[in-house]
Amino acid sequence: MQNFVGQSVVSASQFNLASLQKIFLTAMNMESLVEHEGCSDLLGDKVMATLFYEPSTRTRLSFEAAMNRLGGKVISTSHAKVYSSVAKGESLSDTIRTVEQYADVIVLRHHEKGSAQIASEASSVPILNAGDGPGEHPTQALLDSYTIWKEKSTLSSLKVAMVGDLKYGRTVHSLTQLLGLYDSKVYFVAPDILQIPNWVVDKFSSDNYEKKQSIEEVIGEVDVLYMTRIQKERFEDSSQYEKLKDLYILNQAMMKKTKPDMVVMHPLPRVGEIDPEIDNDPRAAYFRQAQNGMFVRMALLALVLGRT
Ligand code: NCD
Repeated sequence: MQNFVGQSVVSASQFNLASLQKIFLTAMNMESLVEHEGCSDLLGDKVMATLFYEPSTRTRLSFEAAMNRLGGKVISTSHAKVYSSVAKGESLSDTIRTVEQYADVIVLRHHEKGSAQIASEASSVPILNAGDGPGEHPTQALLDSYTIWKEKSTLSSLKVAMVGDLKYGRTVHSLTQLLGLYDSKVYFVAPDILQIPNWVVDKFSSDNYEKKQSIEEVIGEVDVLYMTRIQKERFEDSSQYEKLKDLYILNQAMMKKTKPDMVVMHPLPRVGEIDPEIDNDPRAAYFRQAQNGMFVRMALLALVLGRT
């Protein structure tokens, strides 16, 4: 992705090192804008629609905050599965072809993998994929990599462990693809049935990743520990979820075994994977990570709407 103007963001595979650099620098400018002025009128003549078919706190609110910070307007359907015309049987393409009449950019979260691609094909305005089922979550990967870049000053030559539900975790699928652009090593820590899908690591050199079963195997050597929630809503058999849900819990005793400057990340929401006693540890970056989401989404909106 070289020129952002008018482009949809469907997959992390669209980005290269140059486009990431551009997003990071623009996000830094947005941080300084918020710090010094609070808001601007950069997108004062633009409207963003958020169309969410699955629950969300951070993604929707940070997109909406981002648009508001840049002076734009927001129209919104949360709970779209129940409250929009989809409940009457409308196709996603028809919904998109309608919403594009009202908005200059559409942020879509949907329960089906591939839905963002379908939407982008139907739309004449940019679609920003805010999660397509167990597929991808590219804007989360942008804020995750921005967070690593800020916390560690680089994205190269790091050791990163991704822990938990790597099969259904869309944030992991997208972030892994971005890390593949840098010379970093990734440890995928999960039981076999929740391991990283092949389509995610296809382009990864096999020297650059290893699959592991336990956090203990890698805790002493990693620079970034990326914890994730077991994705309850994706399991057909709830008893299987019950068996897996408490498999990985990061606690203070484990934090004592890490490198002193290791960073703990989590896309949130957490449901027990990180003991809250760690929250005050300066290495716990997950709430800073959530804040970075707003800056990165401000950058992305300005870039796709041609205002940078
Ligand atoms: C994640 C998501 O929705 O994929 N959250 C987020 O967007 N910050 C992670 C999750 O739900 O576990």
